[in-house]
Amino acid sequence: MSQIPSFLFVCLGNICRSPMAEGAMRQAAAAAGIELHIDSAGTAAYHVGEPPDPRAIRAAAANGADIAGLRARQAVAEDFARFTHIFALDHQNLAALERLAPAGSGAQLALLLDAVPGREGEAVVDPYYGGAEGFAATWADVSTAAARLVAMLARAPQR
Ligand code: 4NP
Repeated sequence: MSQIPSFLFVCLGNICRSPMAEGAMRQAAAAAGIELHIDSAGTAAYHVGEPPDPRAIRAAAANGADIAGLRARQAVAEDFARFTHIFALDHQNLAALERLAPAGSGAQLALLLDAVPGREGEAVVDPYYGGAEGFAATWADVSTAAARLVAMLARAPQR
């Protein structure tokens, strides 16, 4: 049976890092002609229903990605059945996802930067309390990871 790979990106608020990761992954998958389900979520509920932070929207737009239409939602246990791959943007959110995961979940859970050779185990730093430079650094991290993920998918045999 074929299953389209499905990727969920998860940070704390789902208004900065994970919507940028979603936008970078949508952009990279489209450029490579790869069909994927892509979504993002937060482990916290503070910003549910809100669009991405204006600084995140600007950093993505500067790189050709429109994330203004995204709306924040909280990660739920059912996400572990809906997605084949779940990527946490940092260690705190990885730990929160490990607590949320139902026993026997088949979804692969990892840090996003585990996909980037030489950066395994690193966090995508939270840019929320900083300025535009932080958001540019976030875009650099998430777009590097998205390129690696697309390269891996392009090499993987069709299932
Ligand atoms: P994100 O950034 O997890 O990358 O979306 C944050 C957004 C909001 C908050 C913290 C981080 N907050 O504390 O409200």
